[in-house]
Amino acid sequence: RLRGIINVASSTNLLTDSKNVQLVLDPSLQLLSRKQRKLIRQNPGILHSVSSGLQTAIKECKWQFRNRRWNCPTSQGPNIFGKIVNRGCRETAFIFAITSAGVTHSVARSCSEGSIESCTCDYRRRGPGGPDWHWGGCSDNIDFGRLFGREFVDSSEKGRDLRFLMNLHNNEAGRMTVFSEMRQECKCHGMSGSCTVRTCWMRLPTFRAVGDVLKDRFDGASRVIYGNKGSNRASRVELHHLEPENPAHKPPSPHDLVYFEKSPNFCTYSGKMGTAGTAGRFCNSSSPGLDGCELLCCGRGYRTRTQRVTERCNCTFHWCCHVSCLNCTNTQVLHECL
Ligand SMILES: *[C@@H]1O[C@H](CO)[C@@H](O)[C@H](O)[C@H]1NC(C)=O
Ligand SMILES: *[C@@H]1O[C@H](CO)[C@@H](O)[C@H](O)[C@H]1NC(C)=O
Ligand SMILES: *[C@@H]1O[C@H](CO)[C@@H](O)[C@H](O)[C@H]1NC(C)=O
Repeated sequence: RLRGIINVASSTNLLTDSKNVQLVLDPSLQLLSRKQRKLIRQNPGILHSVSSGLQTAIKECKWQFRNRRWNCPTSQGPNIFGKIVNRGCRETAFIFAITSAGVTHSVARSCSEGSIESCTCDYRRRGPGGPDWHWGGCSDNIDFGRLFGREFVDSSEKGRDLRFLMNLHNNEAGRMTVFSEMRQECKCHGMSGSCTVRTCWMRLPTFRAVGDVLKDRFDGASRVIYGNKGSNRASRVELHHLEPENPAHKPPSPHDLVYFEKSPNFCTYSGKMGTAGTAGRFCNSSSPGLDGCELLCCGRGYRTRTQRVTERCNCTFHWCCHVSCLNCTNTQVLHECL
């Protein structure tokens, strides 16, 4: 069964070119729910924004995990991220959070760029903000981005089980990260740049900043269990919630990523787990870290080969106007996991 906003990114709706992570929308949108299709009809222009947000999220995921055994692989198939999205491990948590953040970020920006008909810049901040500045300009519409995300992304999740609670929690953590990383930007006015008055607005963070924060949350993710406070009908909503697996730990905050099962080791190919293994990956022979050959190759060893690369070098500028370069041939040493 397909889960998450990731089901939008599955092969039927978005055709991917795994090299460039180019996502192209298939107009049939077969895998979207009735509710999701309705939201798309009600917000002309938003589909493009959603798909571009997903594309940015996928690229960021690959960048954040480029040096790890699990490097956020994607493929053609019923699900772009593979079987990992149906599990409950840290990597699953990261995928949900980053894709949800990607949609919210992209939609909030598209609103302020005027490319969605049903939203605009956020103009609700008005008037004086401080002694020497006032609100003005065009703030990115994070509220619209979050609300749309809750309606659109979260509606892919069904049920009442632990996985359902986990996915919704991580979706919200992704949106929350975009929101809490927003920054004020200002422009100076006044005689000859004296900056006696400033106009300020709220700007979205770069998506790299969102990725960095979520990667930290991945490293500090909380392992949770299903909490059931008993059968008090009055507090029905409270019946289903997440509790830390270790009772000595604090309950996860809304910012934290949560998971409930151990990750596979990602070392070897497993059709059942949907892991490709690290054979053939390039490793760094001098690094003691996760990208080092010892850890990345899971102790299996590696082969070394050299490759000659010719680059333009020692370029000089000649007046006027051309540049001449020498050809330098360097030998590059590559280490490849067995
Ligand atoms: C390999 O690891 C070393 C030590 O961590 C680092 O200084 C170097 O830049 C790395 N090389 C590459 C190509 O990433
Ligand atoms: C390029 O320039 C550097 C210093 O300017 C010099 O040491 C080096 O030999 C030059 N390389 C080639 C291929 O001429
Ligand atoms: C460098 O290589 C290019 C392409 O192989 C060649 O056209 C060019 O003449 C070379 N330049 C020099 C300075 O040898």
